[in-house]
Amino acid sequence: MLPTFSPTASASPVTPPPRPIPGSYGPPVLGPLRDRLDYFWFQSQDEFFRRRATANRSTVFRTNIPPTFPFFIGIDPRVVAIVDADAFTALFDPDLVDKRDILIGPYNPGTGFTGGSRVGVYLDTEEPEHGRTKNFAMALLHRSAQTWATELRAGVDGMLDTVEAELAKASGDNLSANYIIPLQQCIFRFLCKALVGADPSVDWAVDKFGFTILDIWLALQILPTQKIGAIQPLEELLIHSFPLPSFIIWPGYNLLYRFVEKHGAEAVAYAEKEHGIGEKDAINNLLFVLGFNAFGGFSVFLPFLVAKIGEAADPSALRPRLREEVRGVLRACGDDGAEFGFKAVREMPLVRSTVYEMLRMSPPVPLQFGRARKDFVLRSHGDVFQVSKGEVLCGYQPLAMRDPEVFERPEEFVPERFIGDEGQALLRHLFWSNGPETSQPAAGNKQCAAKEVVVDTACMLVAELFRRYDDFEVEGTSFTKLVKRQPSPSLSAAAAGAPQ
Ligand code: HEM
Repeated sequence: MLPTFSPTASASPVTPPPRPIPGSYGPPVLGPLRDRLDYFWFQSQDEFFRRRATANRSTVFRTNIPPTFPFFIGIDPRVVAIVDADAFTALFDPDLVDKRDILIGPYNPGTGFTGGSRVGVYLDTEEPEHGRTKNFAMALLHRSAQTWATELRAGVDGMLDTVEAELAKASGDNLSANYIIPLQQCIFRFLCKALVGADPSVDWAVDKFGFTILDIWLALQILPTQKIGAIQPLEELLIHSFPLPSFIIWPGYNLLYRFVEKHGAEAVAYAEKEHGIGEKDAINNLLFVLGFNAFGGFSVFLPFLVAKIGEAADPSALRPRLREEVRGVLRACGDDGAEFGFKAVREMPLVRSTVYEMLRMSPPVPLQFGRARKDFVLRSHGDVFQVSKGEVLCGYQPLAMRDPEVFERPEEFVPERFIGDEGQALLRHLFWSNGPETSQPAAGNKQCAAKEVVVDTACMLVAELFRRYDDFEVEGTSFTKLVKRQPSPSLSAAAAGAPQ
């Protein structure tokens, strides 16, 4: 549980003077090395932040954040960590923080991974190109609204056909079917079609290897910042000690680049004509949004969600309740699903609240960074801290969204947490999209362009599962039980009484 150290704002009507930010970076080289080994080796990421919050008796403290490369690579690991919901909001304020080249922290994988372009996510709101690329991303989503739900459902159908076939083949003690590859295949295909307007099935290599290329491309960019659980000290020496080279993936990236250039030509032309983005930057931005934001985000988040809902124990009888809600809305849509789209999933409060709760407990992008644009005072519930211009703020969402000052039973998964007026009021503390759930993405901020679409997509996946199955169970990344939907009693009775 995240400890509370500060009095609440209401307990202290007079703002106290700023106090120094507690914590230390330790001696040069040794301090960063100790923190790095704790982060990757001796502690989990969660434990790393929890222990330091406890030791400093503060939810704002100084620490080093890995990776810490040799000095000649020139990455400064010193950050001000933030693990409470109040101070975290400073990271969303474009007047306070500069988000230039700081997406995954002080380490920036570089433009070698993005065809030489500085893509939108690495741009700060003060750079004119940011507005252009952000507007382009939001317009793409707007244009895809017609096809998104249909393509997603087609993709999910294909995925579940594969999983069912695998499960039917399984025998003995191993009654399980891993769904990660079919899910990734599904995400890749539907995103290419919906977002880029390009059908991968026209190109055999892209269709078969596209998602694997994206997996490798993503891994090379983020692995220096991730614990992978390989044998130590090999992991430290080989993965966390230097930037991983981009040239390894150039042939794969080039294949996807040519695919978008040829088959996504309409989206590229639209970027040039309506948003003033040149062809090369348009394609690189499209690939980044497709591969990193969308494919990467969904590949992390959807398995969390499916695994949580599919837990065998199901202590709060969540599955039967979700099934009833989904079936009720399906019936209202005529049960054939012809009209079943985003509008329908927005009428499923429990499904939606479950998705929000999952985003609260396991935010897919756990860390957010920003560089102080100026000296400013950082408020953290009742406490205030002085931040100096140029300091890097590092917000850790999993703890900020379990802030006991804000959430009751913060460590518990409460599927109905966001239902009703009180639940809706909590949405302003849900930060997964790099902004409160009650704010909207815009050219002038850095909130996820797909804030609404992500939630709708996740809700739709849940709805599709319950449209097809009466029940299912999941262990890790495998389905272990799939109970196909039985015709409802009224339909069976009607069928039995019908003339032959
Ligand atoms: C589960 C899926 C997703 C998650 C968890 C996610 C999360 C995020 C987060 C945390 C950021 C802010 C990064 C930062 O600056 O620190 C972001 C930015 C962004 N996301 Fe998403 N995202 C997801 C899906 C998508 C999709 C489907 C799109 C498709 C268009 C998208 C487009 C963007 C764009 C364009 C930005 C940059 C915003 C800016 O520069 O102002 N994301 N996303």
